[in-house]
Amino acid sequence: MNDKQLIAKHAADQVADGMLVGLGTGSTANYFIEELAHRSREQCLKVSTVSSSIVSASKAQQLGLPIMGFEQVSHVDLYVDGADEVSPELTLLKGQGADLVREKLLATACDRFLVLIESNKLVQRIGQRFPIPIEVMPFAWQLVKKLLEANGGHGDLRQNASKNGFIISSAGNLILDMNFGAHIDAKTLNETLNGIPGIVEHGIFYGLATTVLIGVNGEVEERQASL
Ligand code: A5P
Repeated sequence: MNDKQLIAKHAADQVADGMLVGLGTGSTANYFIEELAHRSREQCLKVSTVSSSIVSASKAQQLGLPIMGFEQVSHVDLYVDGADEVSPELTLLKGQGADLVREKLLATACDRFLVLIESNKLVQRIGQRFPIPIEVMPFAWQLVKKLLEANGGHGDLRQNASKNGFIISSAGNLILDMNFGAHIDAKTLNETLNGIPGIVEHGIFYGLATTVLIGVNGEVEERQASL
């Protein structure tokens, strides 16, 4: 069992009968979906799920997990997802999958947000390894980019895999991948981005994680948020 599987199993063991579970997106979240399906099959665990992406929803469906539509859900017990970066204060950077609105809605609406990472995702500051994904309304991208540049950012629209067009989010928006360097902290940047019109959502998840499970060489380390 690799570290991602190990933390995924640890997370699945925290699911209780009757819970509505938010499913994340990515390779680690996929392992969690497999472990949850395994428990539900083998231990008759009764759960419902709501997914942060079409990819995770179809995986859950293939494995026989009951899925609810996003629009049917008004409360989530537990949301389990990966992250691209995690700071010492447990601020997250997410959004490589371009499904930011669903991810942040689940992270905000749930009772507990359990984040699963390998230790290579730990960083000293958010934005250290990845640019900040910023989902913008298509007509607003140039004006938003100018405002972000005025706040010390530089970057551009995220291109699609064939580099012949731009990525469109599941909500039909464009993604700006912006670097801000070390001069602006994640709390300030979160507030700045929240206040710019035309930004639909962004990848800084400040004060949202409840617990981070870190897989390190066959062991699970658990960090609890103190915010
Ligand atoms: C999806 O948009 C991201 O926020 C993911 O949570 C992230 O990319 C983690 O993926 P892995 O588990 O594959 O590293």
